[in-house]
Amino acid sequence: LPAPMAKEPMRVLVTGAAGQIGYALVPMIARGVMLGADQPVILHMLDIPPAVEALNGVKMELVDAAFPLLKGVVATTDAVEACTGVNVAVMVGGFPRKEGMERKDVMSKNVSIYKSQASALEAHAAPNCKVLVVANPANTNALILKEFAPSIPEKNITCLTRLDHNRALGQISERLNVQVSDVKNAIIWGNHSSSQYPDVNHATVKTPNGEKPVRELVANDEWLNTEFISTVQQRGAAIIKARKFSSALSAASSACDHIRNWVLGTPEGTFVSMGVYSDGSYGVPAGLIYSFPVTCSGGDWTIVQGLPIDKFSREKMDATAQELSEEKALAYSCLN
Ligand code: NAD
Ligand code: LMR
Repeated sequence: LPAPMAKEPMRVLVTGAAGQIGYALVPMIARGVMLGADQPVILHMLDIPPAVEALNGVKMELVDAAFPLLKGVVATTDAVEACTGVNVAVMVGGFPRKEGMERKDVMSKNVSIYKSQASALEAHAAPNCKVLVVANPANTNALILKEFAPSIPEKNITCLTRLDHNRALGQISERLNVQVSDVKNAIIWGNHSSSQYPDVNHATVKTPNGEKPVRELVANDEWLNTEFISTVQQRGAAIIKARKFSSALSAASSACDHIRNWVLGTPEGTFVSMGVYSDGSYGVPAGLIYSFPVTCSGGDWTIVQGLPIDKFSREKMDATAQELSEEKALAYSCLN
């Protein structure tokens, strides 16, 4: 039999590639964690002039690691060069939150970055480029990027809440002493901030007797309704307190999960959380980038419809939507 034809390389942009998430993320991409073990990649790495030496150091290490799937590396401080021809854009670059800072403090620094990078992507990325915004405030940066790249389909612009989703699975697995790979269908609703609502009303655990609802296995509803939620909401801040830097390896790994499921699909019966442009589903105001439960197939995500929402959930979903509406207004005031 003839050998299967090698796939064409995909070009993956990572902005802020000299930063700490970038340093964790680029080797994962080059190893096939994001797009698959048979998918060659060309990495495009963007950073700003003060970081250019570090960026070139990362490029040297990528060469030194001799990744078989890595077919090229572009390391640049020029947004046009960085965006040209990219199939996937992971937007990590920006000003990170430091200990004691609220996410709103970093808003004005980031909206101007996302406005200008939107234009570079719109003009130079490959058609149908998929965009994932990681940098905070992630939902609102993604919204700004969408607004200033009107020719990129809104379905192609998303933000990362998969880290929060994975954190929720992790907390359930620790509590029940089960494998995290047996826990699924948690939901993160809303903002990637402490107002997010981690919802386990539809989550299940695989057991020898079939799939069981998390609510049945965690006997203590009080824990699920209080400490579980606040632990997931506050996890980013807890990592900053412990490391003095924000989460990096878990953010990078979750970014790979987000893109891999988006491009290659979610398993049957499994949904994941993605920050996507709201179409008004579940009464969430249209025009926000809001985290919903989604399934992915054929390179497209679809919001899971028809899940019953109780009053407790409704209030929390509305509160995080309200925060996002306020962030949106604040972002627009920064632009003016
Ligand atoms: P970092 O400061 O280590 O790296 C950020 C990099 O971006 C730096 O190298 C910086 O030079 C670069 N940068 C700044 N402005 C840029 C621009 N205009 N264009 C290109 N690059 C630019 O920060 P980090 O720890 O890697 O975090 C990156 C971002 O991700 C932060 O905003 C952080 O809050 C956010 N974050 C999000 C999640 C999530 O789940 N959504 C999780 C963790 C961190
Ligand atoms: C995280 O969730 O770990 C980060 O978004 C925290 C932060 O604010 O950088």
